[in-house]
Order: sequence, then structure tokens, then C-alpha cells
Amino acid sequence: MTKNLVIAFGGVSPEHEVSVLTAMQAIAALNDSEFNLVPLYISKSGRWYSGNTLLELENFKDLKDLEANAIPCHFTLNELGQAVLSEEKIGIFSKKRDILIYSVLTAFHGASGENGSFQGICETYNIPYTGSGVMGSSVGMDKVTAKKLCEADRIAVVEGIDFYEDEWVESEDHYINDAENIGYPLIVKPVHLGSSIGVAQAKNRDELKTAIETAFRYDAHLLVEKAVSPLMEINCSVLGTPESNRASVCERPLGKEELLSFSDKYLRDDAAKGMASADRVIPADIKPELAKSIQETSRTIFRLFNCSGLARFDFLVNKDTEQFYFNEINTIPGSFSFYLWKESGLSFPELLRKLIEISLKQHKQKNGRILSYETNLLSKKAVSGIKGLKGTK
Ligand SMILES: Nc1ncnc2c1ncn2[C@@H]1O[C@H](COP(=O)(O)OP(=O)(O)O)[C@@H](O)[C@H]1O
Ligand SMILES: [Mg+2]
Repeated sequence: MTKNLVIAFGGVSPEHEVSVLTAMQAIAALNDSEFNLVPLYISKSGRWYSGNTLLELENFKDLKDLEANAIPCHFTLNELGQAVLSEEKIGIFSKKRDILIYSVLTAFHGASGENGSFQGICETYNIPYTGSGVMGSSVGMDKVTAKKLCEADRIAVVEGIDFYEDEWVESEDHYINDAENIGYPLIVKPVHLGSSIGVAQAKNRDELKTAIETAFRYDAHLLVEKAVSPLMEINCSVLGTPESNRASVCERPLGKEELLSFSDKYLRDDAAKGMASADRVIPADIKPELAKSIQETSRTIFRLFNCSGLARFDFLVNKDTEQFYFNEINTIPGSFSFYLWKESGLSFPELLRKLIEISLKQHKQKNGRILSYETNLLSKKAVSGIKGLKGTK
């Protein structure tokens, strides 16, 4: 039977293009595999498309043109109750096609593709999909909740405050005061974004206000936290399930600017390679004990957040004291962090195969449990019972 692997990417997200790059990397890695690759591209306007034209990076230069040539599609169940990607009939020569889904490789970055919403759709249709489930994905996308959960598990996080836009408008002085009590330099960041969008450092009150106003253009919920200085960033990826997983080697990403910015990550000359092209040291040039602690902490958080498949954990390290703080989790890291796994002895195709294997295992496990009661509450007898309840309130 054909193993139709749906590669889901794009999405209504500021990281749309980054997701296209990640997906194209995965497609290239799986090109000669046993899978039949079926693209599921969500456009910037949220429309779902399929069709072979979406398998080539070349065709993404003109997104309008791309949408005009792609095939609208959606998930549905066929007459046997199996989940399919249903391609619409376009023009007189094409015909409607239902593609039986083997698994969905989620290659989104940011927003509904990574925050559990898309994962929820897959759950609803009972489709296997790679990566974390609804909870891990949604907690992972909320920097405040992620920090609070870690704190509750005694994992160090940077001191900070958070507030919503309406609260800020009401009590600006109050929040400025709280922030200044933490002390400059401060970092301002949107709670739900990635790729350093809207993140800025503030060394005084003017810069703080400007940074906050700017960040509110991207998100209604902000985090202001103490800047770790002197800063070293260390990331580590974890692969597996909550109960059985392993950590990759650590990496030390290098930024040219004070913050590792969007342009550092993606807009350099070799940007087509995505996040993997940004300068980094792998394995990180840190003491083995520090690397080990970071790897262990990453695995602890992977389990804590009920993650699955793959995730990347980013830490802020004080270079002088070597104290490290959990900064954020990426449940669908750029380029699937393949460069970390390559250094850990797993090739990119092997990594993707592993993700698919885990998705199928989790799906099988879920379906092995009792999912519904046989009794129909709405059967004649039960309904007449409810009728009998009339007037008992
Ligand atoms: N508390 C902090 N102290 C120092 N630098 C920080 C701090 N928080 C974030 N940064 C810098 O800003 C960058 C982006 O912030 P991050 O929290 O990772 O958001 P994003 O999800 O956009 O990547 C980090 O990679 C780091 O360089
Ligand atoms: Mg980050």
C-alpha cells in the first residue's frame, strides 16, 4: 500500500517562509524514500492547497501565482471512515482525488501550525502526526506558561513580569515600576512569537517604553525579563516520547547583533538553508558537566510538557557563573534541528523516519485505548428517561 506522507507547512504565521524552507529541506531528504510525498500547504490567507507544484522551492517565489496553480484540499473521512486529504476537482480535466493519509509531517513554525491548533485538527480526524500533541504544542508556544511550569518543577528561569495590552494601557506606571525593580538591562518580548520577532533589549525607560509599544504590534501579551549578561546561548534537542527519549549534543548559536535576530537566523546570504545556516558551534564549546546538565534538563522539560517526536530547548547561560536558565521550547524547531542530530549520529532522513515512526506508535497507542462507550445515551430508553426529568428542576 502506498505510504502517503503529508508534509504540512506554511500557515498564517510571521514564520511562514521559514516553514516553507523547513518543509523543502524535509522533502529533499525524503525524496528517494519509500514515502509518497503529498504537500499540504496552508497559504498566508489560511487556504489549504495540495499538488506537486508545492514540492519545489522554486515555485514559492510568487505566492499569488502559486495559489492559482495549486489544488484546494481539506481533510475528511472517506466512506470507510478513514482520514483522507481530499483534493478538489479543478478545471474540466482534473478529478476529485482522496488521498489516504499514512502520517502528517508537521513542518509549521509559529501560530496555529505549532501551537496545538493544527494538531487538534489531526486529533479530531484521528490522523497520525509528527511532533508534540495539543498540550505540549500549546504550552510550548506560550512563553509565560512554559516558564511557570518549569518554575514549578524547580527549573531555573529568568526573573520577569508579564502583562496584557489593556493592563499596560491602564497602569503603565505600575508595570514600568515593576520592570525597573528587576533592573536594566531588560528584555521585552511577545509571549507567543518566535524567530526573535518583536524582541528587544532596553537599557533605560525610554527604550523600555519603545520596546513595549513595538512588541504590542505583534502580540497582546508581553514578557519583560532581566537580561542575562554576559550571555551565552545553548540549545539542545530531545527526540522520543515523554517516557522514553534522548538528548542531542548541545549547540551554541552565534549572533552578530546583541540579540540573535531574525536576520541573523534567516536573512544572511545562505538563508535558503534556513536556520541550519546561521553560525553555530556544534557540539557547543562548553564544559562537559554543563552540557550534561543542559541535556538532562531538556529531557526533564520534554517529559514535563508531554512532548512527543522532537523539540528544541533553548537556554540562556550566564557566561561568568555558568548558571543556566530555561528560555523557551520550540516544538517544531527550524530545520527539525537536523544538524544537531547529525552530530549525534542520526542522518536527516533517519531523523524524519524516526519522527514518523513515533507518530504511528503514539497513534496506535491512543487507538488501543477505549475511546467511546458502547451505550448510546440517546437511545430511546435513555431519552425517555430525560423526558421524565421534566419539571424536576
Ligand atoms: N533574558 C534574556 N537575556 C538576554 N538575552 C535574551 C533574553 N531573552 C531573550 N534574549 C535574546 O533574544 C533572542 C530571542 O528571544 P527568545 O526568547 O528566544 O524569542 P524567540 O521565540 O523569538 O526566539 C534570544 O535568542 C536571545 O538572544
Ligand atoms: Mg529563541
